[in-house]
Amino acid sequence: MSDTHLTRSGFDTLAVHGARDDLAALGLHVPSIDLSSTSPIHDVESGGDSYENLASGGRLEPGHSAVYQRLWNPTVARFEDAVAGLEGAEQAVAYASGMAALSAVLLACVQAGTPHIVAVRPLYGGTDHVLATGLLGTRVSWATVETVGASITEDTGLVVLETPGNPTLDLVDIAAVVAQAGDVPVLVDNTFATPVLQRPLEHGATLVLHSVTKFLGGHGDVLAGIVATNAEWSARLRSVRALTGGVMHPLSAYLGHRGLQTLPVRVRAQQAGAQAVAAWLAQQPQVERVLYPGADGGDPAGLVGRQMAGPGAVLAFDLGSYDAAATVADHVRVITHAVSLGGVDSLIQHPASLTHRPVAPEARPTPGVLRLSVGLEDPADLIADLAQAMSA
Ligand SMILES: Cc1ncc(COP(=O)(O)O)c(C=O)c1O
Repeated sequence: MSDTHLTRSGFDTLAVHGARDDLAALGLHVPSIDLSSTSPIHDVESGGDSYENLASGGRLEPGHSAVYQRLWNPTVARFEDAVAGLEGAEQAVAYASGMAALSAVLLACVQAGTPHIVAVRPLYGGTDHVLATGLLGTRVSWATVETVGASITEDTGLVVLETPGNPTLDLVDIAAVVAQAGDVPVLVDNTFATPVLQRPLEHGATLVLHSVTKFLGGHGDVLAGIVATNAEWSARLRSVRALTGGVMHPLSAYLGHRGLQTLPVRVRAQQAGAQAVAAWLAQQPQVERVLYPGADGGDPAGLVGRQMAGPGAVLAFDLGSYDAAATVADHVRVITHAVSLGGVDSLIQHPASLTHRPVAPEARPTPGVLRLSVGLEDPADLIADLAQAMSA
């Protein structure tokens, strides 16, 4: 990609211009959306060659037919190149959702004969659930950062971690896990931090996963996932996608690509709001704990500033009981009571009842915890809303 000449100091420039540098020659200011479900075949032989190449995980060769949208779509490929640039990856592969992206990685491990997964909790409830059930043919060992190395066996295909972790914002030292993992690739779910605040490949991870549904899309109107990684893993993941069909829709790819342009300013502004809300929450007698990398005790290993450029825009807080948490969730007015996070509007939800309901009791968040994704509203309005909900 010619975009890669931009240095890290040009991150915001890359967010605006990434995977767009051919547009002027095409006479375009914004990318076109290609909705074709099929593509004309020039001749049988070259069509067959292109099918073979794409189904086995290759990229579309210039002048060849894309054959079928499940194999290749130019709008999706453009979004993939843009995300790869921001994560510092060779390539990226996009999917219908974050869970479809994770499923493809797990299936690739099963296909390679390495179905054992080592996973560091806490994880998003859906991730925890698919690993715990072994639905895709994997088997899991739950580990802490300290026990990752001891958990690895001959058939371990992957180490999975999230940092900050969903929903309690625990931070994990990526480099420490990578050191213990040895040759086993480490997948970091970077959904909460985004590449604006953290680029896991720089710390030795092999794969970075995003629920694009969250910050990358940023406006609550995209459901998608993506994995940014090296060329070899990308080929395996494209092949799994072509075979199993969890593709990203081109309209979502367009919206995701547009979302990247404002990602740095959104993340920084939302983070500033979260810092203000976290500081206020810490002063409230009803709040037993504020779970946030920027709060007291929220970053015991000193990773903010070293691994992560800031504490982010998602926080959690513990009101001590289910009833107190449910009352706040049920009474907010400016903040929306809904799952998901990372959008321009603030969302609050009760993880133990919703996103983390399927998680084993010993790893489930306690009943007094609420997760709050801070949006772009005036922080004073969010604080006033929380205050009135807490006194309800
Ligand atoms: C950290 C994290 N990873 C993955 C996912 C799954 O993504 P999706 O809902 O797009 O399938 C989520 C969804 O909430 C998430 O929060």
